[in-house]
Amino acid sequence: MVASKGRAIPDQAGEILLQARDLRLTLSGAAGSVDILRGIDLAVRQGEIVAVTGPSGSGKSSLLAVAAGLEPATGGSVELLGKNISSLNEDALAKLRRGRVGVIFQSFHLLPNQTALENVAAALELAGEKNPAAARKMAAEALTRVGLADRHGHFPRQLSGGEQQRVAVARAAVVSPDIIFADEPTGNLDQRTGEAVKELLFDTVREQNAALMLVTHDRNLAEQCDRMISLQDGRIEQ
Ligand SMILES: Nc1ncnc2c1ncn2[C@@H]1O[C@H](COP(=O)(O)OP(=O)(O)O)[C@@H](O)[C@H]1O
Ligand SMILES: [Mg+2]
Repeated sequence: MVASKGRAIPDQAGEILLQARDLRLTLSGAAGSVDILRGIDLAVRQGEIVAVTGPSGSGKSSLLAVAAGLEPATGGSVELLGKNISSLNEDALAKLRRGRVGVIFQSFHLLPNQTALENVAAALELAGEKNPAAARKMAAEALTRVGLADRHGHFPRQLSGGEQQRVAVARAAVVSPDIIFADEPTGNLDQRTGEAVKELLFDTVREQNAALMLVTHDRNLAEQCDRMISLQDGRIEQ
């Protein structure tokens, strides 16, 4: 874990890490324009595990992408870690997100030509760790924590889906982010493996006192979170 980031010690109240106001996303394509997010208001505080649920096509992934700063909104605002991200240029946004925002996808998104260890170490290097030996050591510890002590040298194709998702959790967690965004992280896993990955992810978030925004269409999984936000046609269902 990155030890010295000069981060203030959190108070019990849990500061707001993510605040979306009247968030809108309209994309135009050949078939005309589509209103994907139609005025979303939400806040996520430190220490919270928030589920975003809803049927396929309701805008869950879009909301996650916009909230995590991966895609610009077309209306409204997102404050991430206290900064209005629409006012930031690409460099400033990258700098804000570096080491403080983790993302986990349904399809893992590991680098195929790098080992498990290298995948995790790369996240540390991106977060500013200059010493490759230190990065490898921390990556090894993170992999051990997710139960992959004996898989450091394996490439993604040599790992099961559950193992790949564990690497993705280790990669997101190793920099001790303030907030993790996860888009259906158990969606490609069988039920038992999905349950194990969920527990690992929840434990990691609790241990680090981070926040988690977890997209899922699995109602059962959503109900295990602290709070649930249900989307329908790009709006929050009341
Ligand atoms: N690049 C795009 N251009 C046009 N429409 C899109 C694009 N990406 C997603 N959509 C549409 O936006 C809606 C929401 O998609 P998405 O956020 O992926 O939903 P979910 O994750 O809830 O299944 C869907 O109707 C989808 O077809
Ligand atoms: Mg989706």
